[in-house]
Amino acid sequence: MTKTILRALKGETLPVPPVWMMRQAGRYLPEYRATRAVAGDFLSLCYTPDLAAEVTLQPIRRYGFDAAILFADILLLPQALGADLWFAAGEGPRLSTVTTAGELAALKPKDAIHETLSPVYETVRILARELPNETTLIGFAGAPWTVATYMIAGRGTPDQGPAHALKATDRATFAGLIEVLTEATIDYLSAQVEAGAEVVKLFDSWAGSLRGADFDAFAVAPAKRIIAALKARHPGLPVIAFPREAGERYIGFAGATGADCVAIDNSVGAEWAAANVQKDGCVQGNLDPALLVTGGAALDRETRRVRDAFAKGPHIFNLGHGITPDADPENVARMLAALRG
Ligand code: CP3
Repeated sequence: MTKTILRALKGETLPVPPVWMMRQAGRYLPEYRATRAVAGDFLSLCYTPDLAAEVTLQPIRRYGFDAAILFADILLLPQALGADLWFAAGEGPRLSTVTTAGELAALKPKDAIHETLSPVYETVRILARELPNETTLIGFAGAPWTVATYMIAGRGTPDQGPAHALKATDRATFAGLIEVLTEATIDYLSAQVEAGAEVVKLFDSWAGSLRGADFDAFAVAPAKRIIAALKARHPGLPVIAFPREAGERYIGFAGATGADCVAIDNSVGAEWAAANVQKDGCVQGNLDPALLVTGGAALDRETRRVRDAFAKGPHIFNLGHGITPDADPENVARMLAALRG
């Protein structure tokens, strides 16, 4: 009876893997674009619980995914800590920057975040009530390193250059920011769980640009602390970690951080990940999202290849990164037919 996602996260190998998609509520869906137009803009959508819950539910109604992920953004936490945040049309996020000890000290204390984030918790409460019984509700936050890369640069960057530069030139301020984010993330995710999230996922989208000891200090160690604190407060809470483009560093990541599941991007082969990562427990991934744009027989073939590669152990089927706005909604249905058929 238990939900399939929760069973996979506990280590069970299921005959057909449970499935959801990163960015499953998004611009590729006409009903998402319509609700976003009602909200006016992306941030208003995130902070209006009825509408955020509505877009979270849309892909569940349309496709019957096994999990719903809270509709919000990893950059709401910096905003709750006092950063200015806005989305320039067609250009992605912009933030006021934190690059000095003074700017770090000017951030709000972590206890202040709930004032800004309470609508997010209300969205979770609505979803916990309205989701079908078999659907798992996933909460999330950005991992400290990834969130810090946006706060330091004030925007997305191709190589996270400004964050690497601050790490090299003012290690105390950089490490202090990671510390603030680690502590705030624990409280933010904990509040999501109290509101009804059954699983939480930590998105470290830029983990792949951390090398050697930096990967240990700024990807592994913060995740380990966050996961330990969450599990102490919420015994048995399953946690998915996504150190995107970690490559060889996917090996042992679950053991080193205490994550129940490691999400794999599509820069590594499913066969490689099955042999090297799935031996430690549940894995999530890793279909190339580009296939949902191009579709056809290649989509069927690759869906089955990923499914079959991971079939000998616990697996949650997902993409290697978020579905893109130019994806065809019909191709999502086709992927599900190939997976379940
Ligand atoms: O997966 C989901 O459906 C849940 C909601 C969710 C969003 N963002 C909604 C969103 C989640 C989990 C995120 C995570 C997120 N946000 C990450 C980590 C995952 C990843 O993609 O690597 C990052 C780096 C961000 C920051 C962010 N938010 C960027 C860089 C952008 C602009 C890029 C883009 O796709 O436009 C966003 C905007 C954003 N977040 C959108 C959505 C649906 C698009 C907003 C719109 O409607 O225009």
